[in-house]
Formats: sequence, structure tokens, C-alpha cells
Amino acid sequence: MSTATGEIRKVTTHVIQSMKDRGEKIAMLTAYDFSMARIFDEAGIDILLVGDSASNVMAGHETTLPITLDQMIYHAQSVVRAVSRAMVVVDMPFGSYQSNSEVALSSAIRIMKESGAHAVKLEGGAEVEESIRRILLAGIPVMGHLGLTPQSIYKFGTYTVRAKEEQEAQKLRDDAKLLDELGCFSLVLEKIPARLTKEVSESILIPTIGIGAGKHADGQVLVSHDMLGITKDFNPRFLRRYAELFQVMTAATQSYISDVKSRDFPSDKEQY
Ligand code: KIV
Repeated sequence: MSTATGEIRKVTTHVIQSMKDRGEKIAMLTAYDFSMARIFDEAGIDILLVGDSASNVMAGHETTLPITLDQMIYHAQSVVRAVSRAMVVVDMPFGSYQSNSEVALSSAIRIMKESGAHAVKLEGGAEVEESIRRILLAGIPVMGHLGLTPQSIYKFGTYTVRAKEEQEAQKLRDDAKLLDELGCFSLVLEKIPARLTKEVSESILIPTIGIGAGKHADGQVLVSHDMLGITKDFNPRFLRRYAELFQVMTAATQSYISDVKSRDFPSDKEQY
């Protein structure tokens, strides 16, 4: 939906598709809370992903596996309240869709109904075909996720680049085609070789959104805490930091502590 000036008022699945069709890159970031989501939305981000990376950056878990459906819905509600332009996509957490398609559908319905989000994302290809079909049939837009799928970290055993070997690359090509044909509206490609991203992005109709997948994806996503430098021990080659907030916030906190201890804060003007 565009205004008379061509400015997009609300990002929808149609807008996302038209961006790919026009060759305009899609910018996506993760968000988990109201205040940050408001900043990203006002800055003009296209898609906000309420990622299950909340399990890592918000809750401090080592993997994305522990986060629950209720916790994802809580984060999604906070993000949705902040947003007026961006599309909000919510990760279906581990355990909320893998067992069978009925469970998957009821989890997706809970996310949409209780959070007001616009779409869900889930990891995997042929293994979750039936679940994707049922969710799509219910009218819920689905974003796919292939390559490094962190919910399967204990199967992979490592967070290194996926699909370097031909057999895994072929499975990824087949899965991408399947997700496109099923009717997913977009597809995250995580940590795969750039040439495979190029091949997949050119061979399917829906937009691909890469993370560590090179410049040929139709869009890019980063975990906001990594992009802003709030996390400091995660330094993969694909990550570009746009701020060093860990240092900025540490310095601000130290100044505050020092001002309180020295009785500089509050001053006469900062009291009633
Ligand atoms: O949970 C997440 O942050 C994600 C992105 C890395 C794509 O799935």
C-alpha cells in the first residue's frame, strides 16, 4: 500500500513481494520489546522479526531451544504495540510445530490471535511441509528458514556455514523450491555460501532474506543486539556493527554511579 507520494504506509506481504520484483532490497531486524521496536519502526525498517534469538539475547540462554510459546507471544505483543509501519513476523519456538500439523496450526493461531502479529516464521523444509500447508490454509502468512536452523543445533553440532557439500546444497535448493510452491511469502537463508544464495534467490519467486548468506539475497536480517553492539562476544565474519552500545551504555552507567556516589545527582534543579 503506497501513499500518493509513493511512501509505504504499511508493509504487507504484497509490499515485500513487490520489493523483490522491483529489485529493492528488504531490510529486516529482530525486535523483542516495545522501546526498541519503536525506534526501528520510526527509522523505517521493513520487517521486524520477533526472533527466538530472544532466548539468547533477552533471556541469556545458550540456545534458542528453551524459549516457550507464551514467552514468544509476550515479546510479540510488546513489538506489535510499538509498530505502525513495519511488518511483524514471529518465530514459532522449538516444540510448537515439530510434532504434528495440528499442534503447528494451533500454535500459529495463538501467535496471531494473542499478539496481533502479521506472520509467523518456522525452520525447515520438507520435514515441516504439512504444518506449513495447514498454517497457510488458515490464512496465516509464513516465512520459511533454511540453511543454519538454530533449533537443530544439537543435530548440526556446530554453528558453522551450512550447505557447503553438494548433497546438503541440493536439499536446500529442493526445500526452497518447495516453500516457494507451497506459498510462503519469503524465506530466510542463514549462513550458507553466497553463490548458493544467488542461485536460490534467482530460481524462486519469493524474496530471500539472508543472514551470513552474502549480498545476493533479496534482503538482509541481523539480530539487533549484535548490529547495535550490545552483545560483545559474538563476532562472526558476516556481522557488521553499526554502534558500540555495550561501551556507550557501560560509560553512561559508570557516570551515573559516580554522580550518585559523589552526590552530584540529583542537583537542586532535579528535585521538587
Ligand atoms: O531468531 C532469530 O533471530 C532468527 C534470525 C537469525 C533470522 O531467526
